[in-house]
Amino acid sequence: MSKDATPPPPLSRIARELPASGIRRFFDIAAQMEDVISLGVGEPDFATPWGVREAAIHSLKQGQTTYTSNYGDLHLRQHIARHLDEMYGVHYRGADEILITVGVSEGMDLAMRAILDPGDEVIVPEPCYVSYKACVGLAGGVPVGIETRAQDQFRVSVAQIEAATTPRTKAILLGYPSNPTGATMPREMLQEIADYARRRNLYLISDEIYDRLTYDGPHTCVAALPGARERTILLNGFSKAYAMTGWRIGYACAPVEVLTAMMKIHSYTILCAPIMGQKAALEAIKNAEPSVRDMVGQYNQRRRLIVDGLNKIGLDCHMPQGAFYAFPSIKRTGLTAEEFAERLLFEEHVAVVPGAAFGRGGESHIRCSYATGLDKIQEALRRMGRFVEKVAAEKRAAGRTVQAA
Ligand SMILES: Cc1ncc(COP(=O)(O)O)c(C=O)c1O
Repeated sequence: MSKDATPPPPLSRIARELPASGIRRFFDIAAQMEDVISLGVGEPDFATPWGVREAAIHSLKQGQTTYTSNYGDLHLRQHIARHLDEMYGVHYRGADEILITVGVSEGMDLAMRAILDPGDEVIVPEPCYVSYKACVGLAGGVPVGIETRAQDQFRVSVAQIEAATTPRTKAILLGYPSNPTGATMPREMLQEIADYARRRNLYLISDEIYDRLTYDGPHTCVAALPGARERTILLNGFSKAYAMTGWRIGYACAPVEVLTAMMKIHSYTILCAPIMGQKAALEAIKNAEPSVRDMVGQYNQRRRLIVDGLNKIGLDCHMPQGAFYAFPSIKRTGLTAEEFAERLLFEEHVAVVPGAAFGRGGESHIRCSYATGLDKIQEALRRMGRFVEKVAAEKRAAGRTVQAA
């Protein structure tokens, strides 16, 4: 800007006050370093199954490059309806209760904008995915965080939700299996929350993007719980289970009144999700089940390796039951999670994300994604072990200096 130019008006208060994502900073540094093993990224390391890619190529060759219906391709919606019915026994009409979105990311934004008036509160168990609280705030709402803890396996209880409820509470946001903790919720606990939501007349917004990545038992779909469907906005998508992050396809399912409101906003702001992605998603939901099973099997192997390895090097780590993240405590190193992550990156070239990026309860943890090959996980563990020993030696030396002084 030239010296005598008038600066433009200020940005909106909401934009100014929105914190930048705590994840990005570490990616940016890691991207400029050589020989970095990244346990930082939250996306599958697999390429989209070949058959899915081929279907998208075919659709392009056919010249399918237009808008679709605002709701999304009807075929895709019908297949999603069938899939949810078969998996969880929950029924949605493909015609007007399912909306194809630009990932769960857009679905979350639409859900908040459709149900919140300024000042309405949304209860958000933490640590949680970085977008949750931001989406509530961007829609004019107020996120009310509840801290969950490692000793409770990062599960949230109905008593905690009750204690956080006020007359302004409009919704409870659930995200299980969880990013960053890998926690899942037992069916009974979710049923208690659903019953509570009904008693207090609250919405349930359920982000189930990791529903297929559970290892120790079946996933519970919140909308399928008795009495829950009428007040639930179910969000899911193709990014994680089918290794399709770049295609940007998700879906929202809700009773028709809520979905119509979401659709209206979507039709003005997005118009429709990209057609290539929708064609690919259709192929995925029809034919990629064997690939999903194969990838889940591989994540499970990696999960055991990383959790075992972290515990062996002295970083206490509960066994995550879903998603592809381990969330060990770094407390006993005496470092903060920020210090740990920063030093680990610079000294051993391993990228992890400090837990505080995900809110309260994450401060003394780091998130390690195991969506990476076994050999890389092994090498990362070796480097982390060396780093933890070095920090312990520094601590001992500092203790001796204090004693000698
Ligand atoms: C819990 C959770 N929800 C939503 C998203 C975003 O998903 P999508 O690619 O469908 O927008 C992510 C991505 O990391 C996530 O971890």
